[in-house]
Amino acid sequence: MKAVISATGLWTPKDSISNEELVTGYNAYVDKWNSENAAEIEAGNKDALTYSDAAFIEKASGIKSRFVISKAPILDPEIMAPRIPARPDNDPSILAEIAANAARQALKTAGRKAEHVDAVIVACSNLQRGYPAIAVEVQSILGTGGFAFDMNVACSSATFGIEAARGLIMGGQARSVLVVNPEICTAHLNFKDRDAHFIFGDVATAVLLEREDVAPARHWEVIGAKLITQFSNNIRNNFGFLNHCAPEDDGLQGDRGKKGLTDKLFVQNGRSVFKEVVPLVAKLITEQCQANGLDPNDLKRMWLHQANLNMNVLIAKKVLGKDVDIQQAPVVLDEYANTSSAGSIIAFHKYSSDFENGDTGLICSFGAGYSAGAIFVRRVG
Ligand code: COA
Repeated sequence: MKAVISATGLWTPKDSISNEELVTGYNAYVDKWNSENAAEIEAGNKDALTYSDAAFIEKASGIKSRFVISKAPILDPEIMAPRIPARPDNDPSILAEIAANAARQALKTAGRKAEHVDAVIVACSNLQRGYPAIAVEVQSILGTGGFAFDMNVACSSATFGIEAARGLIMGGQARSVLVVNPEICTAHLNFKDRDAHFIFGDVATAVLLEREDVAPARHWEVIGAKLITQFSNNIRNNFGFLNHCAPEDDGLQGDRGKKGLTDKLFVQNGRSVFKEVVPLVAKLITEQCQANGLDPNDLKRMWLHQANLNMNVLIAKKVLGKDVDIQQAPVVLDEYANTSSAGSIIAFHKYSSDFENGDTGLICSFGAGYSAGAIFVRRVG
């Protein structure tokens, strides 16, 4: 039994922060920190912090702005983090709420009623709690049937989630599966870290996968897919439930010596990530095109993970053997920044309406783990 993609959904926060606003907030924090630490800086015990720069951010990453759930506290030099109030257990949790918003749009587009969905997978980088699963809460909010579970493969969560959903459908467990990617990436970002403060934004996406015989006539056939992982410490977030069990003097707690950066938030060796992930992804796409009898140049579009524009340009160039036309590998990170697993799905959602029957494309994720996922699709109908 074939599993196809019936529809996608996108929920975007109303507020966004431009590079200029972000840099103004950061630089005010730098002035404050340097003045508070003036004596130690003068004595040579601490390095003064240096300003961030909007032009650097755009050149290094392609990011111009990011949507966020909690704008003012991120820009407040006294806070430099989102402030998302805790909610009573009986109220919908924020992650489930934004996931449901994106899911509703996918259901509407497919003309599907929630009760006809029989599985929900919440696949994202940062889950709000251990349990009950966010996906089970989304199931309850939407009124879907069957079962639900959470999974996390960092930036590749959406493609791995799509493959998990296809497996459930082909194995007979479900006929209609919602894969939802609520990504509140600003909550795992250290806004006091100049190297990384510009990287992430918040969003939620959804993909509805269905058994071919119940799907709408106009859908996306999955013509091939491949998932890979390869362990790396170059992108890491050590936040977890064991944190409060570690003795304070174990040498790893607190700052790791880098500008007060705590390892319970996102940390990366950006240069190494760039160097190692580009060839890994280019090889994956090239090999899988071959395995599926596809010429990469016949792909009408590649909806790539949205972490860094220079990375995407290089991957596309390696795969296609020539400079890319932006039409072929569309960019959303200029407006959304890196939204982890949701990035390639936002690109797919926004830049696929011109596909005609038989056109092929590739959804491709990559990120922490390392992990990468390639899903080749063909428009039907
Ligand atoms: N403003 C101004 N200057 C900055 C800056 C900022 N916000 N952040 C860093 N710089 C400076 C650095 O201090 C360094 O200066 P130096 O050469 O005098 O030492 C210079 O810019 C280059 O810094 P570097 O960190 O080496 O930047 P980069 O060119 O490697 O770009 C990334 C940084 C993160 C954009 C880049 O490594 C990258 O794209 N990596 C891919 C990984 C990725 O995107 N991961 C996301 C998670 S999936």
